[in-house]
Amino acid sequence: MSDWEAFERALETPEGRSELLWAEGRPRFVLTARQFDRPWVDRLFATATALRRLDRTDAGRARLRAALADRRLFLLFAQPSTRTCESFAAAAHKLGATVRVVSDLSASSFSKGESVEDGLRTLATFFDGLVVRHPDPTFAVQAAFAMSRSPWPMPIVAAGSGTREHPTQALLDLYTLLERLEGRGGLAGKRLLLIGDLGRNRAARSLLDLLVHYELGGLELVSHPDHPLQEDVLQAYRAAGVPVASHRTVAAAVAAVGPALDIVYVTRLQQEWDRAPGSLGTASDYVLEPAYRERLRDDLLILHPLPRVNELPTAWDDHPGFLGWRQMRNGLWVRAALLAHVYGVEGALTGSGRT
Ligand code: NCD
Repeated sequence: MSDWEAFERALETPEGRSELLWAEGRPRFVLTARQFDRPWVDRLFATATALRRLDRTDAGRARLRAALADRRLFLLFAQPSTRTCESFAAAAHKLGATVRVVSDLSASSFSKGESVEDGLRTLATFFDGLVVRHPDPTFAVQAAFAMSRSPWPMPIVAAGSGTREHPTQALLDLYTLLERLEGRGGLAGKRLLLIGDLGRNRAARSLLDLLVHYELGGLELVSHPDHPLQEDVLQAYRAAGVPVASHRTVAAAVAAVGPALDIVYVTRLQQEWDRAPGSLGTASDYVLEPAYRERLRDDLLILHPLPRVNELPTAWDDHPGFLGWRQMRNGLWVRAALLAHVYGVEGALTGSGRT
């Protein structure tokens, strides 16, 4: 495919995604959580768990370090990041790859007006892969397009694209949920409450893209009224027969369905997209107030992609279901597993022989 618009359009369909983003069962480009299906996610998560086990012994760590020993990754983070950037760097390090992190684009030739295509061809001369976070939702897609036309392509992994896509956050969130729900029947039938300005929260939306494959029992939403969740995301849930309900405030949601909730996913208001952001944080309507604890179950799972401002007070940290820090740790292994699959070394690492 030679034409940019056609490439972008093709990514809107499952067939296009499978043709353009995958090669021989491996992701060439990781751009959206919509490119993953459940069987592949299962394989990825099995790898993540296997890598974590390998890390427990000297021999295992040596095997991990050899996996990508001669690879170099370029981490381009054009928006603030602590967890995502550092966990990709740590994941690469575990597998023996070296990384270069660039977060100041004024230090690169993109600031001289270089096209994404030329910039990417240049990077691919020196690196074996690009992990990229960018406010422009099309940047990672343009990078993939450039690489798909290049005789010397390298994989591209989106680490946060605009307000829509954060596929690796969704994977680590899902891994954390499944880990905690083992022995509790998995996600099937579970009720999830999502809180935040969901219309522009890429972590929440990418998570929804994945969870649609897991037969939730219900989706409860508290969206900021200025940024409601887009219909296209909800459409997939309606098609899957999952009941969806909106509540104006967290207090109203807790009053209506509190004891029935299995999972709460809290997010920060994404004020970096506001023209005049004002002071950071949110009104009580979008805060999981500690006072709600008596109406919520002790086996409730509480997730937040972090960073948090005031929407998930630290009073929740001692709740048995608080998973914020667990998500972060899991992010390292899910991202390491993703790199292993991208470079086709997971079979050699886990001994399954599958590449
Ligand atoms: C998220 C992001 O950047 O989209 N953070 C992250 O990657 N852990 C969510 C956020 O910043 O609110």
